[in-house]
Amino acid sequence: MGFIAMEAIVIRFINVEDGNACNDFHNNFYGKDRTDTQWKWEFLHSGLPEIPFVVAEKDNKILGTLAQIPIRMIDHDGEFLTGKSEEALLDPDIRGKGIYPAMFEKIFAYMESQGTLVVWGFTPAIKANLQAGFEAHTNIGQLFFPMHADAVNVLLKNNTLSKVKIIGIKILCKLSGVFSAASLYSTGVRINNSLAQNICLKTLSTPPDECVDLCRTFVRQWGGTTILRDAGFLSWRIFENLHIRATVRAAYLDDRLLGWVAYSLDDNSVGHIVDIIAASNELNPLDMETVVAVLLKDAVVRLRKMGALGVRAWKVNRHPFDDLVARAARKVGFYFIPRGEWMVLHYLQGSAARPSLRSIDNWYINRIYTEGVLG
Ligand SMILES: CC(C)(COP(=O)(O)OP(=O)(O)OC[C@H]1O[C@@H](n2cnc3c(N)ncnc32)[C@H](O)[C@@H]1OP(=O)(O)O)[C@@H](O)C(=O)NCCC(=O)NCCS
Repeated sequence: MGFIAMEAIVIRFINVEDGNACNDFHNNFYGKDRTDTQWKWEFLHSGLPEIPFVVAEKDNKILGTLAQIPIRMIDHDGEFLTGKSEEALLDPDIRGKGIYPAMFEKIFAYMESQGTLVVWGFTPAIKANLQAGFEAHTNIGQLFFPMHADAVNVLLKNNTLSKVKIIGIKILCKLSGVFSAASLYSTGVRINNSLAQNICLKTLSTPPDECVDLCRTFVRQWGGTTILRDAGFLSWRIFENLHIRATVRAAYLDDRLLGWVAYSLDDNSVGHIVDIIAASNELNPLDMETVVAVLLKDAVVRLRKMGALGVRAWKVNRHPFDDLVARAARKVGFYFIPRGEWMVLHYLQGSAARPSLRSIDNWYINRIYTEGVLG
C-alpha cells in the first residue's frame, strides 16, 4: 500500500454493520475462513452498551482491529469484570506508528467506564504490548501427551526452544507409542484406585446446575481467582460454540459434582484440554488430584479414539490447582514443554481494591480463556 499519512487514520468503536469488513480484514491477513456468523458469535456477545471493538481506518477502509471479550471472574470476595484482548492486528503499513497504543487507550477508557478491573491477553508480541501499557507476566508452558510421531511437527510450531531440546522432543515423540500408552494404562497404580472406581463420569450437553457453586467452592479450596463458569458463559463458550464444540465430561461422587474436563480435537488432529476444573468441600487435595487424573485419563483415551496425534494442556503458573493439574497429568503420562507465549495485563483503577490480582500465581488460567476457536 506504501506510505500512509497517520493523521488521516481514524480510530473508532464499530457498529454491528462493520462486522463483515472486520472479519474480512482478519480472514485476508491470516488466510482464514471464519464466517460472519462466527464473528458475531464471538464479538456481539459482550452485553456492554458499546461493542468493545475498535478499528483503525482510513477512507472507510479498515487497517486495524482490536477487541475485548468481557469475562466475569470470581475470587474469595465475589465476582468482578475483566476484559480479554482479542483480534489485535494492524496492516503492516501502519505498524510502529503509535496506532496500537492509541487503540488501547480508547479500549482501556471504555472498559474502565464499565467497571472492568483488568485487561489481559496472551501474546507473542511482548514489545508491542509493553509499549501499549501492559505488564508482561508468566510464560505459558504446556503439558503434552504424545500419541504419534507426527504430533511433533504440530507441537513445535511457533516454539522458542533450542535445537537440542527440539531433537529431544522429536525422539520422545517417536517413542511416544510405547511410553505414553504404557503410562496411560499404568495410571491406576499411581492414583487412589478405590476413589477412582467410585467416580462416575458423564457427558454433559448443557451446563450443570451446580456450575456456579463449583466455582465458589474452587476459590475457597484453591484460593486466587478464575473464570466464573456460569451457565451463560458455558453455553456460549462451549455448548453453543460455532467453531468446535468441546466435549464436556463431568465427574460425580455420590451424585455430587466434583468437576469437569472439556476437550476438543483441532484440524491438525491435536487434542486440546479446553478446561479442567475440580473442587470439593469434602475431599482433600490428594483425592482431588485423583479426580483430575481420572478426568484427564478419560479425555486422553477418548481423544485417542477420535484419532488424536497428541493432547495438549496448559501449565501456566504456580496456582495450587495449576500445580495439581500438572502432577495429575504427569501420572497420566503427559510431559512438560515450554511454549513461549506470554500473558500480559493492564490494571485499571478498580483493581486497587483487589491487590491479589497483581500476583499472577493467583490466577487459575487454561484454554477456556482464549477466543474459543478450539472449543
Ligand atoms: C501486534 C501489533 C498490532 C503491534 O503493532 P505496533 O504497536 O504498531 O508495533 P510493531 O508492529 O511496530 O511491533 C513492535 C515490536 O513488537 C514486535 N512484534 C510485533 N508482533 C510480534 C509478534 N507477533 N511476535 C513477536 N514480536 C512481535 C515487532 O517485531 C516490533 O519489534 P522491533 O521494534 O524489535 O522491531 C502488530 O505488530 C501486528 O498487527 N502484528 C501481527 C498480529 C499479531 O502478531 N498479533 C499478536 C497478538 S497481540
